Amino acid sequence: EMARLVEAQVPVTDWPSAWFDTQDQVRRADVLLGPALAPGLALAAAVARGPEGMLQEITQANLRGRGGAGFATGLKWALCRKAPGTEHIVVCNADEGEPGTFKDRVLLRSHADAVFEGMAIAAWVMGARRGFVYLRGEYRYLLEGLQAVLARRRAQGLLGNNIVGHPGFDFDIEIHLGAGAYVCGEESALIESLEGKRGTPRIRPPFPVEHGYMGHPTAVNNVETFCAAQQIAQHGGAWWAGIGTTASTGTKIHSVSGDCERPGLYEYPFGTRIGRILEDCGARNTQAVQVGGPSGLCVSASEFGRRMGFEDVPTAGAFMVFDRSRDMFSVARNFAQFFAHESCGFCTPCRVGTALVVKRMDKLAAGRGSRHDLDVLNELDKLLHTTTHCGLGASACNPLRDTVAKFRPTFEQHLQSLHFEPAFDLDAELS
Ligand code: NAI
Repeated sequence: EMARLVEAQVPVTDWPSAWFDTQDQVRRADVLLGPALAPGLALAAAVARGPEGMLQEITQANLRGRGGAGFATGLKWALCRKAPGTEHIVVCNADEGEPGTFKDRVLLRSHADAVFEGMAIAAWVMGARRGFVYLRGEYRYLLEGLQAVLARRRAQGLLGNNIVGHPGFDFDIEIHLGAGAYVCGEESALIESLEGKRGTPRIRPPFPVEHGYMGHPTAVNNVETFCAAQQIAQHGGAWWAGIGTTASTGTKIHSVSGDCERPGLYEYPFGTRIGRILEDCGARNTQAVQVGGPSGLCVSASEFGRRMGFEDVPTAGAFMVFDRSRDMFSVARNFAQFFAHESCGFCTPCRVGTALVVKRMDKLAAGRGSRHDLDVLNELDKLLHTTTHCGLGASACNPLRDTVAKFRPTFEQHLQSLHFEPAFDLDAELS
């Protein structure tokens, strides 16, 4: 709800489109959030290039997945394309569940044509006839609008049979609604859910490119990745590769929220300094930014010169600003509660481990903690990181690790109260 208010405050296009940062030699970009391309334009360009030619552009663009991990999109599509199977599937991961991320919601609401067109371009490259959008349950209110865009695109000959007048280019998209589980953003859990099963992550490999939806080769990409693919089809891979840095090409959309004057969506070329974004959004007295949400990285003030990109600070899109009035211990505790709540319960290390982390944090918060509890939390972090079934558990202690390392005094404060509280409260321990 807060994110919706934020979006209402700052129209995404209400920013200068060509803003030059002389210090960084980077430009504030307006590519994905800029004026929409006419429906079908980029798709026709992709068809004119042929499936292999289009794949070459994506590879040359060095486009990397926008869901956070940054896997090479060209390689993913190439692997899927050549994987044997009776049919190939394109899936758009719109299960944007990471706290602090709301860019995909805006893209789906205001740039749905770009998303669907990117999916059709992927289908053209891989020879897929079926596509799914896995829409997070909380975005239910976007469904009618998306269905209307799909219907219009069918009427325009941009979905269905013989797309853009090309005989045999048949592709259509279905929207599947999630039910609010964070773990379903993990691609293999998402596929299980699409198949009508409980959203439990699969063991990878095999990766979805070989064995995905109903065992078919499946390319799962983030909403923003498809939007980027549309731009690349229109302007070419070399153009995209010319934006950003060598290892992190193109632009990235950041969902800026928290202690700043102008929260909202910001699109920058990769390589932009964190401090630059803080200046633009009107953040003051910032002590930390949680980049990439709870499963990402907590960046403290001494690191605001670091740059967004896979070489330095990777991100799925969340940019949560915390000023000096915030207690970073409480922030970390809140994130720990989130992971414990969202653990799917399938594997023991995650189900039990995340609950134990919360219990220790509660103990610290109640002023009954000791340095030993910090050691235990450290052990739990290592355990979760190395033994859980999927990425949810593996990253559950990320915010804790960062904040203990970077805001140790805040944690120590919670230990000091030990002198003023009863050292051991049997009733509380048993409850
Ligand atoms: P991953 O690195 O295992 O995989 C990333 C993508 O590359 C997947 O699509 C996978 O199928 C593909 N891939 C990787 N190796 C492959 C291979 N050898 N062959 C073919 N395909 C291959 O990362 P994972 O576990 O999928 O996601 C973790 C990331 O998700 C983290 O970076 C985290 O930041 C991000 N994340 C994003 C959230 C969001 O809401 N956007 C929420 C939570 C985490």
